[in-house]
Amino acid sequence: MILLEGKPAAAAIKADLSKQVNALIQKKLRPPHLVAVLIGNNGASETYVASKIKNCEEIGFQSSLIRFETSVPEDILLQKLEELNNDDTVDGMLVQLPLPKHISEEKVINTITPEKDVDGFHPVNLGRLAQGAPTFIPATPYGIILLMQHYGIHAKGKHAVVIGRSNIVGRPISILLSSNQPYGNATVTICHSHTPNLKELSLQADILVAALGKPGFVTADMIKEGAVIIDVGITRVEDTSAKKGFRIKGDVNFDEAAAKASYITPVPGGVGLMTIAALLKNTVTAYLKRHNLSEAILSE
Ligand code: GUN
Repeated sequence: MILLEGKPAAAAIKADLSKQVNALIQKKLRPPHLVAVLIGNNGASETYVASKIKNCEEIGFQSSLIRFETSVPEDILLQKLEELNNDDTVDGMLVQLPLPKHISEEKVINTITPEKDVDGFHPVNLGRLAQGAPTFIPATPYGIILLMQHYGIHAKGKHAVVIGRSNIVGRPISILLSSNQPYGNATVTICHSHTPNLKELSLQADILVAALGKPGFVTADMIKEGAVIIDVGITRVEDTSAKKGFRIKGDVNFDEAAAKASYITPVPGGVGLMTIAALLKNTVTAYLKRHNLSEAILSE
């Protein structure tokens, strides 16, 4: 069994990005600028956003964090997003999800201009993804693809089973794995809460992607010998013996799955670390497109 660790894969991507930033600075160009918007003080969201900002700093990106109280009126938030859309010094922007109940996620996603939507959540970008056109691939599925590439795992001709159909992970990863791209060409089955024979299907998976948000859901009896297991779950589970009072648990029962898998992602330390690397790559793409620059400028 080989562990699909996110750390070396993300580090390699970040080292490349760092070099790219240096190439821009040498040409007297400014570095890419990512803006994160955080509403309220959800513990997990705080951690994710802090990590996004820290990673920007590490590779020399400019980053900004804009915070609002949980009670911020929807129109004030949307107005800020319009402002960021029109701010020429901003290349990429994201609003950390989930949002407070009184704010429409759909309105927020639709307000961010597709050119700066480095999360790839805007319907225009998701539509492009479905068409196989150039777009911003949402960070988590893009991170999975980058992780598989780093470890030389090919999906072509394989049966990939995806458990979960969210717009953020399940749906886009199923599109990517089935697409006619170097990283795709798998036959993909999507399972969800109304799939009656989920175990029967998961047992056929050469590549199993668990993205349903239920800790420990995938057990040994659901896994084919030699399967590649990608665990996207990152649920905080109460644990009074842990320093923070919780532990991060994946959707896969790791110990059981590791005994059968050929490759498996740890949680934490697997897909999670790749999502930020993917977000940073999207930010460079947005920067180049907005400035009408070719990728060649990053290595010259
Ligand atoms: N919340 C959980 N995952 C994500 C993500 O990829 N982007 C944003 N903006 N919020 C999230």
